[in-house]
Amino acid sequence: MKEEYQKLFEPYVLPSGVTLRNRVVVAPMTTHSAFENGMVTNDELAYYALRSWGVGAFITACAYVSEGGKSFDGQIGITDDKFIPGLKAMADTIKGKGAKAILQIMHGGRMVNPKVIGGKQPVSASEVAALRPNAVVPRALTDEEIEQIIRDFGEATRRAIAAGFDGVEIHGANTYLLQQFFSPHSNRRNDKWGGSLKKRMTFPTAIVEAVLKSVADHAQEPFAVGYRLSPEEVEEPGITIPDTLQLLDKLISYPLDYIHLSIGKYFVTSLRNKEDKTEVLDTISRHVAGRIPLIGVGSVHTPEDAVKVMDKGIPLVALGRILLCEPRWVEKVEEGWEFELHYRISADDMDKLKIPRAMAESIQSVPGWLPFE
Ligand SMILES: Cc1cc2nc3c(=O)[nH]c(=O)nc-3n(C[C@H](O)[C@H](O)[C@H](O)COP(=O)(O)O)c2cc1C
Repeated sequence: MKEEYQKLFEPYVLPSGVTLRNRVVVAPMTTHSAFENGMVTNDELAYYALRSWGVGAFITACAYVSEGGKSFDGQIGITDDKFIPGLKAMADTIKGKGAKAILQIMHGGRMVNPKVIGGKQPVSASEVAALRPNAVVPRALTDEEIEQIIRDFGEATRRAIAAGFDGVEIHGANTYLLQQFFSPHSNRRNDKWGGSLKKRMTFPTAIVEAVLKSVADHAQEPFAVGYRLSPEEVEEPGITIPDTLQLLDKLISYPLDYIHLSIGKYFVTSLRNKEDKTEVLDTISRHVAGRIPLIGVGSVHTPEDAVKVMDKGIPLVALGRILLCEPRWVEKVEEGWEFELHYRISADDMDKLKIPRAMAESIQSVPGWLPFE
């Protein structure tokens, strides 16, 4: 292995004590391939197995914690104890190959497609539709419903522990419900859940508290809790980098294991403030200043890209789409065979690469999402 790649392969101990054998993490990617009732399928297990050999941790596709939070067809569920056996098979598959298994848990809020939840109206902080074609106007959640969703995240954590996962990642990114409460675009409330930046943090932080309490109540072994967030949104009004720095300070006040940024390119600069030429990951890493581990992500393809992320003071690097094309990325780089890495994918390779058919169909439908041959 090249000496400059050595740092990618050093073990890393998260604050909870969960130890990763190296710094490479699989980014969460929805497979669209669970059974209609949310149970894990064997196709998904094959997809997980092939990508768990070398990496330090595998963050799974997002699982919905409440019935009304299911966001796509073929999404995995964690709304009931009946899901535990399938999720245990998923955790065992990942852990059996030496990687830590981290389950991402979410509620889609206004991003939920009514068709997926039996034609019901999706819910959110306020009655504001997302800025996307055909978006429906959601119904504003009542106090009671909000408290129930917070409990659902706690229950999902209990089930993840029972299924043998090493941690959960709270999905506070990608415009889903937690982000909708933090966003001034989707949260127009004037009660304890909104009205000021501080109050817009109430829902996400209540979920953090419920998840941490569930870990304290149920986990017998070290169990990691991470939080994923999108640093900015383009809506007006929308989340800005200064807003996110305040959210980070709040999150850092909790005993979380990591913050996972969600960005498309690790070298991107601010989407909103074009004058600011600093890369977003640099701004965040400097602000965090080692107070909590960060996971960087976004178009990390080559080992040089991964090293560049770590050189920003970010200890962990998530790889998404490249691991679809190249499941053996870690082993090849570690063995000094990086010239053998596949950076492109052919539609004919999907079965060989254990990419479930519905996932293949969904990624092929988004132009430019995968570098096709
Ligand atoms: C097919 C696919 C499914 C995804 N599903 C999720 C998801 O369930 N949860 C999530 O937080 N991000 C999801 N993402 C975003 C990825 O985690 C990652 O942030 C993004 O793909 C950028 O990383 P990459 O350039 O290495 O692919 C998904 C991305 C892809 C391509």
